[in-house]
Amino acid sequence: MKYVTFFLLAVGAIVGLVALIAPAPGHASGESAPAFVTEIPHGYRDWRWISSAHEAGNLNSLGAVLGNDVAFKAFREGKLPYPDGTIIAALHYRYVPSEENNKVFGQAQSFVPGVPTNIQFMVKDSKKYAATGGWGFGHFADGKHGDAAFMKSCFPCHEKAKATDLVFTHYVP
Ligand code: HEC
Repeated sequence: MKYVTFFLLAVGAIVGLVALIAPAPGHASGESAPAFVTEIPHGYRDWRWISSAHEAGNLNSLGAVLGNDVAFKAFREGKLPYPDGTIIAALHYRYVPSEENNKVFGQAQSFVPGVPTNIQFMVKDSKKYAATGGWGFGHFADGKHGDAAFMKSCFPCHEKAKATDLVFTHYVP
């Protein structure tokens, strides 16, 4: 019995020591974890199409939502929550009439992507982005990322899609 007690005390001491020494996640070297995505994920233009969305009103945009392999698989299988490594890209363009196509149709009916406006990303890393539901948000216009104040707007709105792990887009067959 004595030995068991000693053993338990020893284990307890070691666990306590490890907890003291180990840095808190995200504060490894005193720097705080980045709150949002500051680099455009590599190769996103080759990813697969999940769905599209047209926003009218002030945005007047046409968007294509793409996913990397991890994202595509999860979308297709309806897997929730999305696993770490998931990256979703939303490529946004102006929504413009196509004079070229309309000429062929003989009436105004064709709309296509115009100039690119921005690219947005959602990167799943449940440790790094724990404070924002495990998702890192990224917004790039002309290759530059959005400022910290602007980036604060993403998470509160995407939280409204809590039932689908903060993702609004549904996979279309
Ligand atoms: C006012 C609410 C709102 C805000 C703020 C917002 N989003 Fe979204 N986001 C949406 C909705 C709704 C969709 C789905 C419709 C669409 O794609 O236009 C969407 C779609 C997306 C998608 C495609 C994946 C998905 O969830 O469907 C990405 C990536 C994305 N948003 C990133 C961002 C980033 C980055 C920011 C911050 C700069 C941001 N969003 C701010 C509402 C919002």
